[in-house]
Amino acid sequence: MKRRKLNKKAVIVLSVILLIIIIEIINPIKLYNKHLLKELNYQDASIKTILNNNLKKEVLNQEYSKALDTIFASSDFKKDNYSIYKDLEYVKLKDYTKNINALIKKGYKAEEINNITRSATDASLKEFLEKDYIENINDYLKYDFAILSNYDRYVAYQKENTIDKELVVVYVNIGLDNDFYTNTRPVTEFSYDMLVNKYTELSEDFVPENLVDVPLEYAADNKQKAEATMLEAFKKMSDDCKAATGYKALVRSAYRDYKKQQDTYDLYLDAYGKKYAENYVAHPGFSEHQTGLAVDIKAESSEVFKGTKESEWIRENAYKYGFIFRYDEGNEEITGVKYESWHYRYVGVELAKDVHDKNMTYDEYYIRFLNK
Ligand code: DAL
Ligand code: ZN
Repeated sequence: MKRRKLNKKAVIVLSVILLIIIIEIINPIKLYNKHLLKELNYQDASIKTILNNNLKKEVLNQEYSKALDTIFASSDFKKDNYSIYKDLEYVKLKDYTKNINALIKKGYKAEEINNITRSATDASLKEFLEKDYIENINDYLKYDFAILSNYDRYVAYQKENTIDKELVVVYVNIGLDNDFYTNTRPVTEFSYDMLVNKYTELSEDFVPENLVDVPLEYAADNKQKAEATMLEAFKKMSDDCKAATGYKALVRSAYRDYKKQQDTYDLYLDAYGKKYAENYVAHPGFSEHQTGLAVDIKAESSEVFKGTKESEWIRENAYKYGFIFRYDEGNEEITGVKYESWHYRYVGVELAKDVHDKNMTYDEYYIRFLNK
């Protein structure tokens, strides 16, 4: 009798142990959840955190989030911050989770954190984290071209100018809160969309790739050089201009190296004085002509470009060949250059069309859409 009782007890104990083993090791529900999370794309380390913190339901209820995956996999994960984590957009930054936690601790909410991290670099985020919570930071940082390290400049520029915040961000990013030729940024890489203006500086030895001679039939003299792709586009534009107006467009000045730009400036300075030179000739290192992609056009029919049939036809059609009109009337305060009816800049057909359609200076266009 006693033995039977004992056996029964043993069977129960064994069954419980077996059940625990099944639940803990084989655990079909856990396995199934793991499978679902893996299917969503979460990495193993994240799945472990999700299951240990009982967050599977919530996580499975939303789309895969790279931010969440990164945070779950990090040893800095804090469960209390989950309600903010879940709305974050991932940005590649050093110590991602640690920095997110620091921003949350300062009082920032998900939307603010997304704007801060999107506009940050590792260095600017580090500096930003030294500051106390800033209210209404979204007012400036909500624009996707905002730059975190410029934040204080946005605020300062707004105090001096009654323009809307979006323009504040654009103008400060261009550099307009500083005088021309001050607080400049170096430009080292050649590209067809490169921005060169009074805030972006080419080194003395910067020479574009693929410089070629401009054939005399397309030039005002036989000393002109230009970037090869730009020249091909120019030739085509010139031929079509001739077909439409009876006259060709000619290269008066295209590529100018650093020294030539200095000489050009000095020439204008001697002939017309400082104000005129400043208005019409960029300082060496700050001219698009040094990229080989800019061209001052001469009309075949006249020494004065403005008012010619060629000038009007080109103003209408240049974008179709990849050229943008660079220094329009009324844009002097942005470009720092007075109206130049003759100066065009090659950027490629697709981009030229978009700049043309959006009808803004290239300085502004670049800051809004191309600045990396
Ligand atoms: N004329 C333009 C501004 C230049 O010198 O590049
Ligand atoms: Zn020019």
